[in-house]
Amino acid sequence: MNSQRTAVKLGGRLSQLGNMLQQQYAIIWDCCCDHGLLGMSLLQRKQADKVVFVDILKPQMALLESELQQRFPKSDYDWQVVCQDLREVRLPPIKPQLFVIAGVGGNKTIEFINSLCAGMPELPFDLLLCSVHGNYAMRKALMNQGFCLRQEQIILENKRFYEAIYVTKNAGEAIVATGSDMWDFRQAHHQAYLQRTLQHYRKKAAANSAEFRAVVDEYERLLPGALGSEIKDKVVG
Ligand SMILES: C[S@@+](CC[C@H](N)C(=O)[O-])C[C@H]1O[C@@H](n2cnc3c(N)ncnc32)[C@H](O)[C@@H]1O
Repeated sequence: MNSQRTAVKLGGRLSQLGNMLQQQYAIIWDCCCDHGLLGMSLLQRKQADKVVFVDILKPQMALLESELQQRFPKSDYDWQVVCQDLREVRLPPIKPQLFVIAGVGGNKTIEFINSLCAGMPELPFDLLLCSVHGNYAMRKALMNQGFCLRQEQIILENKRFYEAIYVTKNAGEAIVATGSDMWDFRQAHHQAYLQRTLQHYRKKAAANSAEFRAVVDEYERLLPGALGSEIKDKVVG
């Protein structure tokens, strides 16, 4: 199979994620890569000098390695497959690096963010994140680690909402826990996502007001002036 002729096919979520990238990197890490599709497409379009694929699943990584050998000959592409727990991977002191972490739960993503930061305390790097849930807590973790926003988007795929968050340790916009640039309330699916998020945190606040009432308040403050009462009615009603 010739990689020059066969483009890596991505679904909507992974393709939207890949399109957010704004620069070339020395290394891109496709963390928790599973099928490795996003990393392969970034390798194909030479978004980095080297792409490293990391996942803990041995059989899947063996399959991926043989696919990479067929489609991306080492004479033309620099890649590596690392079958290891991401928290134990040793990180080289190279700049600039990007870590993509997509398709894992919020708590795990936070653990990975914290372990990467602990592994490279002196070295700035970028993250491209798309957790399956838990974005509020994940954004708080990013703020605590001193990241700034490069770009963020809401993604809707197979009736599931995701937040794609591209952040840097270099200068940028402040991250907001409830999201900022990604919201466009002229779009029905953004309204629907806010509605779903509010429902989720209202339920949590009913069980644990001390922890979640303030989170609900923060999301409610997002309701835009002109559309606010209309959306608020939908959300409340
Ligand atoms: C649903 S897949 C995500 C695949 C791809 N990133 C995507 O977004 O479509 C989640 C992957 O995370 C991997 N994973 C979970 N915990 C991990 C860890 N501690 N270290 C490395 N990989 C891990 C799993 O083996 C699994 O392949």
